[in-house]
Amino acid sequence: MDIKAPRGTKDLLPPESTLWKEIERSVDETARLFGFEEIRTPLFESVALFKRSVGEATDIVSKEMYLLTDKGGEEMALRPELTASVVRAAIEHNLLSQQGSLSKLYYNAAPMFRYERPQKGRLRQFHQFGVELLGSPHPLADFQVIAFAYALYRNLGFVNFELRLNTLGSKDVRALWRSALVDYLSKYLSELSDESKRRLETNPIRVLDSKNQRDQEIVADAPTILDYLSDDDRQHFETVQTLLTDSGILYRIDPTLVRGLDYYNRTVFELSSSDLGSQDALCGGGRYDELVEQLGGPSTPAVGFAAGVERLVIVLEKLRGEAPKQCIDVYIVLAEKSATKSLIAVAATIKGAGFSAAYDLLDRSVKAQMREADRLGAKFVVMIGADELAEGVVTLKNMSDGSQERIAPYLLASKLQTS
Ligand code: HAM
Repeated sequence: MDIKAPRGTKDLLPPESTLWKEIERSVDETARLFGFEEIRTPLFESVALFKRSVGEATDIVSKEMYLLTDKGGEEMALRPELTASVVRAAIEHNLLSQQGSLSKLYYNAAPMFRYERPQKGRLRQFHQFGVELLGSPHPLADFQVIAFAYALYRNLGFVNFELRLNTLGSKDVRALWRSALVDYLSKYLSELSDESKRRLETNPIRVLDSKNQRDQEIVADAPTILDYLSDDDRQHFETVQTLLTDSGILYRIDPTLVRGLDYYNRTVFELSSSDLGSQDALCGGGRYDELVEQLGGPSTPAVGFAAGVERLVIVLEKLRGEAPKQCIDVYIVLAEKSATKSLIAVAATIKGAGFSAAYDLLDRSVKAQMREADRLGAKFVVMIGADELAEGVVTLKNMSDGSQERIAPYLLASKLQTS
């Protein structure tokens, strides 16, 4: 067949799908421990939502969105991220109507779409999990969101990852800093890369993000936001740092960390892994205190993060080797072809006790069934033959030590539980 999966997309196949399930369970469990509840929103939204939140000048909105006009003439976009959708849903369903109410929401393995140049760890359809904590202005909320991400990677066995932290201050402060930055960068206009020249026009703060070496040298001496912070901004940032330090979460302050989406203020952060290569961001997030109001909701401070599942998988596979294939607990070998009734009853008993069971569906010989049991990594084989039928028993074989015994089918469950 000459039709392939679209460039930048991936079919998820076993055994990798088993690893994804483990990650999803881990995210669900971390969310339960931190008291977050799941939200799911549509795969497509009105284009206006992303223009008004992520920002028209950002790469995501200006270059990377999958756009479509539906039959009713509405301009839609496949969602490139979820923060905007979560805020839209929270406003639409009045989750924020009561003063002092908090919404602690999370999403898990949710598909996102960005028309990017595909490479390792960068896809056009990728998946994110993340949290959005709406309603708290306190540094403790920033801390909780960062601690969530940290706990998750730690529990999955990550060791080589770095937390970078910065603040973008509040709106007024950022405007002052931005204009100082433009003055400074304009002096080096002829030396900047073409991309940074463009960004200087459209979104100057993003010049700090440049990977170009000369840009980075220039940026090293640029005015930093840290010199412009108000007392409140500074206090907020210092409290977040103290909370992290007190919890043993190591971080590095990186004044060049500005994030690629326009809605942030105050705390921003990224976790990155040296095991990832050039696309090294495992997750990123920060505060977005103005976004809810900007989208028409009540003034509501908020903070969140999102993480790429594919990138997490790359690191996990490096840590653990390829995902092990799923093994079956019991393979039932049918040596007496007429005994399907017993076969089905035995399979039901095994599954009823919580163990997985498989049997032949291809009318194969006993030898071929034993080979299949091996291929599936069965821990036990239950044999049903003419002798067993006559005696009303089955033969249970432990595949790890080769030992076998004949037992009554009703004892199978307790035998498996104690083996
Ligand atoms: P983001 O930094 O654009 O932030 O994406 C978050 C994470 O998604 C990245 O760190 C990366 O792991 C993964 N990711 C992004 N693009 C791709 C791609 N093309 N292929 C594979 N993985 C990718 C956001 O999306 C914000 N909504 C985060 C946030 C939530 N801020 C506050 N709340």
